Amino acid sequence: MTLVDYDTEQYRDYARGRALSAEQLRVWVDAFVAVLPGRRPLTGLDVGSGTGRFTPALAEALGPVTGVEPSARMREVAATQGHRPGVRYLAGAAENLPVPDASADYALLFLSWHHVGDKARAVRELSRVVRPGGRLLLRANFRDHHPRPWWLGYFPHGYEVDASLFQPLHEVIAMFTAAGWRVASFDMVTEPSPGTREDMLERLRLRTFSFFARLSPDEQDEGLRRIEQAVAAEPGAPSPPFAEPLLTFERSPR
Ligand SMILES: C[S@@+](CC[C@H](N)C(=O)[O-])C[C@H]1O[C@@H](n2cnc3c(N)ncnc32)[C@H](O)[C@@H]1O
Repeated sequence: MTLVDYDTEQYRDYARGRALSAEQLRVWVDAFVAVLPGRRPLTGLDVGSGTGRFTPALAEALGPVTGVEPSARMREVAATQGHRPGVRYLAGAAENLPVPDASADYALLFLSWHHVGDKARAVRELSRVVRPGGRLLLRANFRDHHPRPWWLGYFPHGYEVDASLFQPLHEVIAMFTAAGWRVASFDMVTEPSPGTREDMLERLRLRTFSFFARLSPDEQDEGLRRIEQAVAAEPGAPSPPFAEPLLTFERSPR
């Protein structure tokens, strides 16, 4: 079952609902750089590149990047950024990567792995396109290592519903190690605060987080109402940062 159809939902609001500040983007790019080899350029794949939140920054920091994205609407939004040196966007998916064998030094999947329907096929494709010795950066959540953003618990069963969208960590590790990858690192990256809790509420109202698809309209409204009350009780309070997992694999050098 498709978790979210980005061609009909979310594409309009995703860039706004999930916008990153310059500081947040810098923290993520630094985290990627820290788990990648030091030579430049590196040829990258941004798999499930969406509206291109990361693709141009990856190209600037590391070298040419291909964003691969199944949703035509999300690719259209990414294209509104105009020409960015070293960036191209192609139609495709993790299960069907439109690039040659061993052509990438790394692949980033930023919150796209849980959308991948045929994970076994995606593992085969990633193993095909990433060079021996290359890296796979999986910014994913895991059922048993799930971040706890301050707002999630306000939704009825929010934490359980959100965690259920993701595989347990050991399952993901088993899938990739069976295909010849090894775990290079498992880090928690603390993304800087997006602003006040009120700012975060404004973003949540756009409902661009996957777990909304698993809540009833009443549960969504109930959660937003509770957050409104919490925000009103402490106007101007900052939205606390929270730590998010980044799992890095290395493809066995042949
Ligand atoms: C939460 S968004 C993340 C987008 C981008 N990586 C970011 O962080 O802004 C998930 C993206 O995964 C894409 N997606 C869905 N199924 C996919 C698949 N099988 N392979 C690759 N990407 C997929 C969606 O179309 C969507 O753009």
